[in-house]
Amino acid sequence: MGLTGLLGERRVVFFGGKGGVGKTTVSSACALALARAGRSVLVVSTDPAHNLGHLWGAEVGAGETLLWGGDANAGAGAGDAGGAEAGAGSVTGMEIDPDAVAQAHLSTVGRTVKGMMPEHLHREVDRYFALARQSPGTQEAALLERMSEVVLDGLERYNAVLFDTAPTGHTARLLELPQLMSAWTEGLLSRRTKSERFSDAMRGLEGRRADAARSSQEVRDAEIRRVLERRRDLFVRMRELLTDAQRTAFVMVLAAERMPVLETVELHGQLRGIGVDVAAAVVNRRSPTDAGEFLAGRSTAEGEHVAELRRQVPGVPLVQLPLLPGEVTGAAAVGRFAALLD
Ligand SMILES: Nc1ncnc2c1ncn2[C@@H]1O[C@H](COP(=O)(O)OP(=O)(O)OP(=O)(O)O)[C@@H](O)[C@H]1O
Ligand SMILES: [Mg+2]
Repeated sequence: MGLTGLLGERRVVFFGGKGGVGKTTVSSACALALARAGRSVLVVSTDPAHNLGHLWGAEVGAGETLLWGGDANAGAGAGDAGGAEAGAGSVTGMEIDPDAVAQAHLSTVGRTVKGMMPEHLHREVDRYFALARQSPGTQEAALLERMSEVVLDGLERYNAVLFDTAPTGHTARLLELPQLMSAWTEGLLSRRTKSERFSDAMRGLEGRRADAARSSQEVRDAEIRRVLERRRDLFVRMRELLTDAQRTAFVMVLAAERMPVLETVELHGQLRGIGVDVAAAVVNRRSPTDAGEFLAGRSTAEGEHVAELRRQVPGVPLVQLPLLPGEVTGAAAVGRFAALLD
């Protein structure tokens, strides 16, 4: 069965794997294959290197860019990828820049914190947030928050949302975060409840003169509570989505080599641990058997690594894709690649 058949009706798909294995190519081709079947697909790159635009020969940024189908059917080049009926499926691209997202996130939080601090400490606050921006935890949390917003909003307007993830090896850890973050935010909220009760009690002792101070404090408390609750709800919904095998799947992309096979087995274990369903392992760039001795030899060696993968993760369907003679660039090439996925 091809990759699209294995995904079935699922609406959220993550593509992950090591650098250069073909995540961007396979996720975009999959988006196109689904679009040809009439679905509207949003493909989101979370890779700071952003080769989505390069692959499609289009400018893709933080906003949504129509790459194929929809109105672009009539547009230059977009029809190259193989005839779509007008009004049928579409592929839209979007890139999330983890750095920019972390910065935006921290400046929002920074503003809230400054609102609570006396003026002379504001520079100190700025310095703290400049440091925090460098921390990997902040980047991950901000990226995940943005991914959660994009996927939940995307599902309202698109039939499917596909993620082309960065080759960090931290993808599984990132997907684990909704669980950690919702528990953490819950902890913050319950602490706030306690401190609010304490302040109320103190103000009660101070008597009526504190009324003005009390109301401005209440406004700030309510604001902070609102921000925290919004985050918690977002992560709870993301966690539900990630662990719902009816709606969400992960596709592991790899090369048929020893280390990638071992890493894929490990990734599979991590994903199972979080409760994310793995729909397929895509073994990309399989060497041909009929194009000379050299490649035939490689093909045999690859076959052994693939057999090992089958032994290690027997429940995961394998999709094998051939090594193509040239790079995959431009909508037409994506279109040919997409044909391999049906
Ligand atoms: N089956 C294939 N045959 C030939 N070339 C391929 C194949 N699949 C992908 N490529 C080429 O390999 C290169 C890497 O592919 P791609 O950019 O999709 O990988 P990636 O996993 O997204 O990489 P990165 O980790 O850098 O984001 C590209 O030049 C692409 O055109
Ligand atoms: Mg890529």
